[in-house]
Amino acid sequence: MLLCLSLAANAQIDNRAKVETMLKKMTLEEKVGQMAQVTLDVIGKGGNRYSSDEPFALDQKEMEKALVQYKLGSVLNTSNNRARTPQVWFDIISKIQQVAMKQTKNGIPVLYGIDAIHGETYTAGATMFPQQIGQAATFNRSLVRKGAEITAYETRASSIPWAFSPLLDLGADPRFPRQWESFGEDPYLVTQMGIQAVKGLEGEINDVANPYHVASSIKHFLGYQVTISGKDRTPAFISDQALREYHLPQFKAAIDAGAKTIMINSGLINGVPVHANYKLLTRLLKEELGFKGLAVTDWGDIENLHQRDHVAKDNKEAVMIAINAGIDMSMVAYNYEPFCDDLIALVKEGKVKMERIDDAVRRILLVKYELDLFNKPTTNPKDYPKFGSKEFEQASYLTAAESITLLKNTDNALPISKGAKILVTGPHANSMRTLNGAWTYSWQGEKTEEFAGKYNTILEALQLKAGKENVSYVPGVSYKMDGKYFEEYADQLEQAVAAAKNADVVVLCLGENSYTETPGNLSDLYLSDLQTELAKRLAATGKKIILVLNEGRPRIISKFEKNMNAVMQAYLPGNFGGDAIADILLGKVNPSGKLPYTYPQYPNALFTYYHKPSESRSTTEGVYNYDADYNPQYVFGHGLSYSTFKYSPIKLSSTTLQKNEVLTVSVQVTNTGKMQGKESVLLFTSDLVATLISPDAKRLRGFEKIELKAGETKTVTFKLNRDELGFIDTEGKKVTEDGDFTIQIADQKINFNYKN
Ligand code: BGC
Repeated sequence: MLLCLSLAANAQIDNRAKVETMLKKMTLEEKVGQMAQVTLDVIGKGGNRYSSDEPFALDQKEMEKALVQYKLGSVLNTSNNRARTPQVWFDIISKIQQVAMKQTKNGIPVLYGIDAIHGETYTAGATMFPQQIGQAATFNRSLVRKGAEITAYETRASSIPWAFSPLLDLGADPRFPRQWESFGEDPYLVTQMGIQAVKGLEGEINDVANPYHVASSIKHFLGYQVTISGKDRTPAFISDQALREYHLPQFKAAIDAGAKTIMINSGLINGVPVHANYKLLTRLLKEELGFKGLAVTDWGDIENLHQRDHVAKDNKEAVMIAINAGIDMSMVAYNYEPFCDDLIALVKEGKVKMERIDDAVRRILLVKYELDLFNKPTTNPKDYPKFGSKEFEQASYLTAAESITLLKNTDNALPISKGAKILVTGPHANSMRTLNGAWTYSWQGEKTEEFAGKYNTILEALQLKAGKENVSYVPGVSYKMDGKYFEEYADQLEQAVAAAKNADVVVLCLGENSYTETPGNLSDLYLSDLQTELAKRLAATGKKIILVLNEGRPRIISKFEKNMNAVMQAYLPGNFGGDAIADILLGKVNPSGKLPYTYPQYPNALFTYYHKPSESRSTTEGVYNYDADYNPQYVFGHGLSYSTFKYSPIKLSSTTLQKNEVLTVSVQVTNTGKMQGKESVLLFTSDLVATLISPDAKRLRGFEKIELKAGETKTVTFKLNRDELGFIDTEGKKVTEDGDFTIQIADQKINFNYKN
């Protein structure tokens, strides 16, 4: 390892020298070109930049204009919003690199980037994992690491060296249409999983020249998902204190873990578009956090400063503001000419300093050298024999199986007994699209059935595993495929109710169709009326109802939850989700997922578990005598097993912790059930009194997942230090104050005292 590190350090010195040599040779036009990124359709045949002819072919003239005349540095995305085979990717990117490297003076390769979100989104045959929200629910770092490693391998197998992943936004608002792209609502969980994802993509020592690794792009810096309206790209109001307490730690940790690139939040914080915010992009990101990599905009966000946010009077002013704020590369997407022409003019007029351009281009070139693109501009699919292999599929299956979260299981309704007659129903019973969610073979996931036919839906997996003769299917409710994301219709609802009467158990598969970003905006968090009606009508038959939720965010189910015998959250489990769900339903796998967010019970009662005391006050607290209204349907970290786990009292190495000491916390966990199972042990702390900032009810400070045979006991040990107990004070500084703290692990609690 030491040798690896010193080799990596030497390579870094070498790369920096190469960057400086190259920079000296470059004209202003070449530098500005490096700072622009376009979508593939811009250089595809078919003409209008927004789509291309099929089958896809590059347009030589457009390509030469973009790459030779304008010298653009980067291309992203697929064409026509459609996945391509690795061979097609290789052919496309080889041609692009040939033009960029052979027909220009300095021969700088293009940096190709793609949304490899839960696997390589736009590659046919790639291994699709559970979306990040499900990965978080595993509470298993090694599964997240493995998924990212496989994603890197398959992205490189598609000749692409740069992944716009992982997403490190805090998924703290269930209304937001991208909560499922996050690792959930907790900053510590997001941080821990984010580090694994970055290391999985880039390698332990971030040696991205290794052709099995890619450069990651952590996103979206900063505070993206907590808008006031709950809708995409609308204003957020976040105090500096909250920004640093909840939204910054995960980015800091990922930067410390070496993340090569970062993508900027498309929205506004406290009225200021983040792409225009010098304080966030330069002072905080580049100076305070010391980020040395490349900062890319989100889609069209420089134009947005003018067209959407009205903080610039025209495109030129927008370019000036964003580049001066600290943007290195513009994901222009379509019309690159104004960006390049305006930026060149701005430099000539002295409105953007040459040093700023050099800084941006240095960062871009460094990533290109680090990826070894000058020597190896493409990677050939023939060198990636494990692409789409059984080994990779198994990793995806295991992640799905560990993500699925059993939320309720009255009277051991699950597992389903052998030979039981099962009715499978609901719009999610027979859909690969809903199992995967968006960013699957296409942006909104609407092309999934076309690419994922060989994998099992929930229905198909149940038929395979429980025997076709035991499984019947009536949809009850279905989604309309007319381009509207949420439209539903009653599809044999009466027949579903009638069929339930002949079944022993009903597996009711509900949720929401695939979506992301603005198309996923929502005005009603309740699960849809039709699905609610289906649930109520089925429950009225008196049969045992197993609710399988397959959704990107916790849609409210309180109108019928009490009538469900069991509830299972599957999130968006990917191509092997059907198999994993069936195995858990039938008792072949013991569930071990835990909720990475708070599942709300009412739309006007959206909490995170780390709410303030005033949000969960009971009649015994505070001076007003009214009831607490902290009333989630299911709390963060909730998740049942077919086994039971008993926790011993917590042991501490000392009841006091001093400034430079480490507190050792241990607990014994015993599997008191009959089945082998996995248990995620979650450690929370509460600061009982804090200065001015009302302390959070509790905060996650550690987790470990263990496996226990029936009857087995294991000891789990955590180490806590001063930093982990602190909070951001009103001045924006991290402090750990003297005083009492409570540690909570499952149903066990113990106090200790901290002294500076
Ligand atoms: C999304 C990003 C994504 C980018 C490129 C944007 O609309 O917000 O998350 O990486 O598009 O596809």
